[in-house]
Amino acid sequence: MKDFIVGTNWKMNKTFSESEKYINDLLELVKAHSQYTYFVIPPYTHLKTVRDQLRNSNVLLGAQNMHWEQEGSYTGEISPLWLSEIGVNIAELGHSERRQFYNENDEDLNKKVHAALKYHMTPLLCIGEYAKDKYYKITKEVLCRQIKIALSGVDSKQTKSIWIAYEPVWAIGEKGIPAEPKYVEEVHSYIRDQLKDLFGENGDHIPILYGGSVNVENCVPIAQRKNVNGLFIGRSAWNIDSFKKIIELLEQAKMEVHKE
Ligand code: PGA
Repeated sequence: MKDFIVGTNWKMNKTFSESEKYINDLLELVKAHSQYTYFVIPPYTHLKTVRDQLRNSNVLLGAQNMHWEQEGSYTGEISPLWLSEIGVNIAELGHSERRQFYNENDEDLNKKVHAALKYHMTPLLCIGEYAKDKYYKITKEVLCRQIKIALSGVDSKQTKSIWIAYEPVWAIGEKGIPAEPKYVEEVHSYIRDQLKDLFGENGDHIPILYGGSVNVENCVPIAQRKNVNGLFIGRSAWNIDSFKKIIELLEQAKMEVHKE
């Protein structure tokens, strides 16, 4: 299993000057705690500047979405080719806000997964159930559908560059209710089984990150759970001090390299 992965998606936040300062601070943080794999996902407009700032570091750079076609009449869309030209490493695909507010569906996500792989980016496929799905006890069915459609046609040899983020929709954002670590473990183990079902042994090596109201209180209990190979953090990582606290807590808990 890879080193434990920690990263953040800024969503539609941070001005250029805030971005510049944050990345400088992040580079200091990463230098002091280099045992993790880090990634940061700024808005498109910030990517080139952030790429330059990250030039001599191991911090991976992600984009929040992309189109599956290289070019064409798709006003307002972003080509995977441009992202790869910038040097973007990760394509975040299917965040619940994209699915909820911009009608992203699993079939389109499947095309995006293939496009990301074609342009040598790691698809970070976000999956998760709504509160209603949990209530009706169909979480597994929902996740199974999301995984199987989005990863359809992916060869098991390509799994080296695929990451999954489990982000229950009811746990995300200001009104989110953090998931119980035990629940996270149960769901991650179900996701692992699905990945093994699809890709055999290779499914064992796909990192599964947890996201949704990760904070200083719950980061360690969640990170210590089986099959949690990383944390995908929103609000609690946008402030560098709080992100630093999370990293220090992980370090104190000896989350150096995750063990199954
Ligand atoms: P949050 O966001 O940590 O602010 O809940 C998580 C996410 O949307 O990935």
